[in-house]
Amino acid sequence: MMRQSMEWRLPSRRIVYALGTAIVVVTLLLFQFRPSTSSPFGHRSRSWAAASGPMRDIRNSTLGFEKIFVVGLPSRSDRRDGMVLQAALSDMEIEFIDGVKGADVPDKAVPMTLPDSKRLPDASIGSWRAHMNAVREIVHRNLSSALILEDDTDWDIRIRDQLHDFALSAHALTQPLRGRPGVYADPTYPQPSGDASEPLPEMDFYQLPATVPPTTSPYGDDWDVLWVGHCGMHFPFRDSKTVPQARIIRLDDETVAPKKNLWTINIPFTLKETYPEHTRAYHHAQEGVCTLGYALSQRGARRLLHEVALKDVGAPYDILLRFYCEGDKGRSPGRQCLATQPSLFHHHRPAGPASANSDISNHGQNGEFNEKALTDMVRWSVRLNAEALMEGRTDFVDQWPDE
Ligand SMILES: *[C@@H]1O[C@H](CO)[C@@H](O)[C@H](O)[C@H]1NC(C)=O
Ligand SMILES: *[C@@H]1O[C@H](CO)[C@@H](O)[C@H](O)[C@H]1NC(C)=O
Repeated sequence: MMRQSMEWRLPSRRIVYALGTAIVVVTLLLFQFRPSTSSPFGHRSRSWAAASGPMRDIRNSTLGFEKIFVVGLPSRSDRRDGMVLQAALSDMEIEFIDGVKGADVPDKAVPMTLPDSKRLPDASIGSWRAHMNAVREIVHRNLSSALILEDDTDWDIRIRDQLHDFALSAHALTQPLRGRPGVYADPTYPQPSGDASEPLPEMDFYQLPATVPPTTSPYGDDWDVLWVGHCGMHFPFRDSKTVPQARIIRLDDETVAPKKNLWTINIPFTLKETYPEHTRAYHHAQEGVCTLGYALSQRGARRLLHEVALKDVGAPYDILLRFYCEGDKGRSPGRQCLATQPSLFHHHRPAGPASANSDISNHGQNGEFNEKALTDMVRWSVRLNAEALMEGRTDFVDQWPDE
C-alpha cells in the first residue's frame, strides 16, 4: 500500500517539475516577444530608431511612397481645403489629380469591348476616370510607387506607425525567408492550390519570420496594390486559386476601434466575429469594397492601366480593382494586392446636410443633417484633432473609446 502510494507520488512530482519548467519557459518566451510596456497595448513601445534602411522612409513626407495623389473634382474646394489642412498637420506632401464629371467623358473614351456592354451611370464613369487619371500619371512619370487617396478621407494621427506595421506584415507575406531563396512563410504564396482543406497559414504579428529585406520599396519588392483604405474586405476565400491564404493576426492594436464601432460591407465580418477586441489583420485582398486609399507600385500601375483603363468598363471602379487583384473577368491572375482590416483610411463626414457627402449618389436628399462631424473607425482622427495639433497639444480626442 505504502509502496504503491510512493510510486504514485514520485511521477507526480516529476510532472510538477516538468509543468513548472514549462511555465517558466513559456513566460520567458512571452516576455521576449511581447514588447514590455505599462499600457495594455504593445506597439507604442516599438522604437523607430530600430527601423533600418528603407523602412525609415515610411516616416518621410510621402509615407515611403514616391508621391501621394489625392483624386476628386476641383469644384469640391471644401474637400481640398480639408485635405490640405490634414496633410499639413500630418507632415505630408500631397498633389491633387483632377477628377471629371462622368457626363463630360464621351462614349468613345470608355472602353466597352463586350457585345452586351452598357455605359455605366455618370457617377461611376466619373469615379473610374478620376482614378485612371491618377494611375496614368504614375506610369507616365515613371514613379516607383504612389499612394492614391480620395478627397474626403481621414486617417489616424498614428498613420506612420500603422504603415510601418503594415510594411512589416507585407514583408512576411511577400518577401522570401532569409537564407532560403524562393521559400516563403506562406506556403500558398504566390499561387494557392485552391484546396480549402489545407491548413490555414496564420501568423502572429509579434513573431513574424525573418525575411529578406526589400530593396526597391519599404513595403517590399513584390507588390502591385496595397489596399489600405476600403469599406469592406474579406479574408482570402479558402478555395481561391488566385489569392494567397496567409493571415497575420495582431492582438492589442490600440488604434483599432472597439467592436461596437466596427462595420463592414462584407458579411460575414470574420475579423469581428472570430477574433478578440482590438485585433488587426493583414492579408491578401479579397473582394475589397471602396477605393478610399490604395498604393500602387510602378509595376502595379502599368498592369492596372492595361487591365482596368483599357479593358471593358463594365462595373464601378472598386469592382474592377477587385477583378484585377483576383484575376477575374478577363484579367490576368498573379497580382499581389495586400490589405489590412480595419481600414486605415475612412470617409470623413463633416457636420451639415448629408447630401454634401457624396458626389456619386444622392445620399441624404430627404434633408438628412449630420449634427456632428465624424470619421468612422478612426480613433485619433487628424481632422477632428486639428485644433489640438495646431496648438501643439497632445490631449487628442479618441472618437471611439472603450466602454
Ligand atoms: C519617401 O520614401 C520613398 C521610398 O524610399 C521615396 O521614393 C520618396 O522619394 C521619399 N519621399 C521624399 C519626399 O523624400
Ligand atoms: C523608369 O524607372 C526605372 C527604375 O528607376 C528605370 O530603370 C527605367 O529606365 C525608367 N523608365 C523610363 C521610361 O524612364
